[in-house]
Amino acid sequence: MKPWPDNAFLQGYYEPLTAECTAPDLIIEGEIPKDLNGTFYRNGPNPQVPPKNEYHFFTGDGMIHAFTFNNGRVSHKNRWARTERFRIEQRTGESLFSGMNPLETPEEYLDFVLTDKEGVANTSVVCHGNRMLLLEEGHLPFEMDPDTLDSYGSWSFYGKLNTTMSAHPKVDPVTGELLFHAYMATGPFSDDMGLYRVNKEGHMTESHVFKAPYSAMVHDFVVTENYIIFPVMPITGDMDRAMEGKPPFAWEPEVGTRVGIMPRNGTPADMQWIEGDACYVFHFMNGHDKDGVITIEACHFDSPPLFPMADGTPTPANIHPSIARWTIDLNHDSPRVQMKYLADHGAEFPVIDPRYAMRDYTHGWYTSTDRTIPAEIPGSDVVYNAIVHFNVKTLATDTYAFEAGYVSEPMFVPRNASSVEGDGYVLTCVYDITSNTSALCVFDAQNIAAGPIGKAQVSHRVPVCFHGTWRAAG
Ligand SMILES: [Fe+2]
Repeated sequence: MKPWPDNAFLQGYYEPLTAECTAPDLIIEGEIPKDLNGTFYRNGPNPQVPPKNEYHFFTGDGMIHAFTFNNGRVSHKNRWARTERFRIEQRTGESLFSGMNPLETPEEYLDFVLTDKEGVANTSVVCHGNRMLLLEEGHLPFEMDPDTLDSYGSWSFYGKLNTTMSAHPKVDPVTGELLFHAYMATGPFSDDMGLYRVNKEGHMTESHVFKAPYSAMVHDFVVTENYIIFPVMPITGDMDRAMEGKPPFAWEPEVGTRVGIMPRNGTPADMQWIEGDACYVFHFMNGHDKDGVITIEACHFDSPPLFPMADGTPTPANIHPSIARWTIDLNHDSPRVQMKYLADHGAEFPVIDPRYAMRDYTHGWYTSTDRTIPAEIPGSDVVYNAIVHFNVKTLATDTYAFEAGYVSEPMFVPRNASSVEGDGYVLTCVYDITSNTSALCVFDAQNIAAGPIGKAQVSHRVPVCFHGTWRAAG
C-alpha cells in the first residue's frame, strides 16, 4: 500500500489504522467501576486504502471500535464495516471512489455508485430491536453483529425504508419506540424529508415523506413527549448551483431558519412551519414540552463551519458552537423560535441521561475547548480537549481539560436502573498527542473536574470518531 497522501484528515489523530485488532484485557490505571458492565461503541471514518482524490473525513470507510466493560476489566476491538464499496476496494486493492464527487468514478463502477445502498456507514451507531445499525445519513443503515462485529449488510426494515436514514435517531425511554428522520430523502438535493417510527421490537410501524420549505442539510432533529421538531436551517443544497460549478452545499443565511412542528400523535399533514433567525445546529442536546411551550438545548452556531457561501466565498473563520436554548411558545398567535445563548464556552457533541430523553431534564455533558491549551491538530483550530457537565436548570458547569489530549463525544451511563438522573459514569475516548495512543477514560458524572477515575489504555491510536452508543450487558 502506498503512504497516506498529504492531507490533514489523514495525519496525527486522524491517521487511519491499517489493522483490525482484538485486545482482550487493556491495562487499567486507577479503577474501572465494577458496576459498569456493557459495551461502548464508537464509529468513525477509517479509509481502507489511500484515497485517490481530495479526501474529506466525512467520506472514509466506517470502522467500529468496541470497548467492553466486565467487572472492572476492559477489552477493545475494532472492525471495518464491510460495505459493498469496502469489498470492491478490498478486491482491487486501490481506491476507486471519490466520496466528494461520485462522478469521479471509473466507468465500470458508475452504475454501482449511483445505486449503492450501503455507503460508508461511518457516522453513528444505534442498538435497537435486537439489531446494531451503523448510520450515515446518505444511505440505508448497515447492520453489524454487536458481539463479533461481523458485517451483515444494509437493513431496510424488511423493505419498508426506501430513503436514506439520518445518523441521529431518538429512542423514547418510556415506550422503547425509535423515531428517525431523513433529509434529501428521495435523491441528492431533493426537498423531500422523511419521518419513520419503529416499535421497540424493531418493526417499522409508520413512514412518511413530506416537503421541506427548501432543500437543506438537516443533520439532527428533536422529539419531545408531544411534538416532533424538524429544524431546517440554511445550509442549502442546490443541483443547479452545483452544475454551474458553484458549491453544491452552501450557507445562505438570507433564507432564514424554518422549524416544522408536528404533534407526536399526528402526521406531516399537521405540520406547522415557524420561523427563526438564520443559524446552524449539528446536534441538539434534548428537548421537552409543557403546556404548549417547547424548550430545546442546542450546540448552536451563528453561522456554520465547513460550508462556503453560495458564491463560493468562505464563511467567517474561527466559528465555534456554544450551548443555547430555543423556546417555541405554541400558544402565541404567530410563534417564532426564540434563541438565547446560555454560556459562552464551546459546546459540541452533547449527551444526556437517556432515561430523560424527550422530557424535562437537568443534566447534560458535551465536549468543549480549553483555549489556554494550544491546539496541535494541523489545519484545524477546532479541537475538543475538555469534557463539560452542564446543569440546564442552574447553568452551572463542571469541567475537566486534558493538557495533551483530545476528547471524543462523551457517553453517560446510569449507575443502575434506579439511580437518580445524572448519577453514573461519563465515558470518553481520549487521544494522547504525545504518545500517539488512545485511552478510554471513565469519570464520575457528577464530579468531572476530579478527572478520570479510571483509564483503560489502548496500545495504539483510536482515530477520530463521530458518534457512539452504549449497550448494557445482559
Ligand atoms: Fe452528528
